[in-house]
Amino acid sequence: MSRSRVGVLISGRGSNLQALLDAAADPGYPAKIVLVLSNVAGVEGLARAEAAGVATAVVPHRDFAERPDFEAAVTERLEAAGCALVAQAGFMRVVTPGFVGHWRDRLINIHPSLLPAFPGLRTHERALAAGVKLHGCTVHYVRDEVDQGPIIGQAAVPVLPGDTADSLSARVLAAEHRLYPRCLALVAGGRTRIVGERVEQDGGKHERGADADAQLIVPGPV
Ligand code: GRF
Repeated sequence: MSRSRVGVLISGRGSNLQALLDAAADPGYPAKIVLVLSNVAGVEGLARAEAAGVATAVVPHRDFAERPDFEAAVTERLEAAGCALVAQAGFMRVVTPGFVGHWRDRLINIHPSLLPAFPGLRTHERALAAGVKLHGCTVHYVRDEVDQGPIIGQAAVPVLPGDTADSLSARVLAAEHRLYPRCLALVAGGRTRIVGERVEQDGGKHERGADADAQLIVPGPV
């Protein structure tokens, strides 16, 4: 089986990166992470990549006068590493249409809300303020508009009485760690098709025989 070569873009903690690294440690997983690139030096995610024996790169956005120049440097690193796909995992830079166009349909992101609700920042605070009873996370293809694009998979968690932004965020993050590896597997395995800006998932079992489903309801404590 040939595995898709994936570059992961990060800016910090890298707990989603860790979930992807853990999944990709299985030789039967359809993606191989070949580069972890951060726009911030010294972050925990870089140490996670090193511990997993994956190449790292730091491209500080502040070194570039214009956003497209930064992105060109990022693309250069990704292409030098032979990446076919790019997964943003807590990458805190808004990307321009030029970057999106270059990587069109090969660039995915995880966002901590059930899109199209709550694009942008502080999603957990906003979900609590809105009084929603279900919250969650979304993996989607990246398009020009921030936190929009064809949805690959979602995981929902309940909002529980007494939740704070921290408790809700922890529940969503655990769901993210389950969702992202499943979605990357679908994309890397060529099992997603974008039809009219909606993702159609090819039938059939994942090669490892499990977790074909990228729609998760993750129960919280009762
Ligand atoms: C996650 O909540 C992700 O959805 C958002 O940023 C956070 C990154 O966390 N885009 P980590 O770096 O993966 O731990």
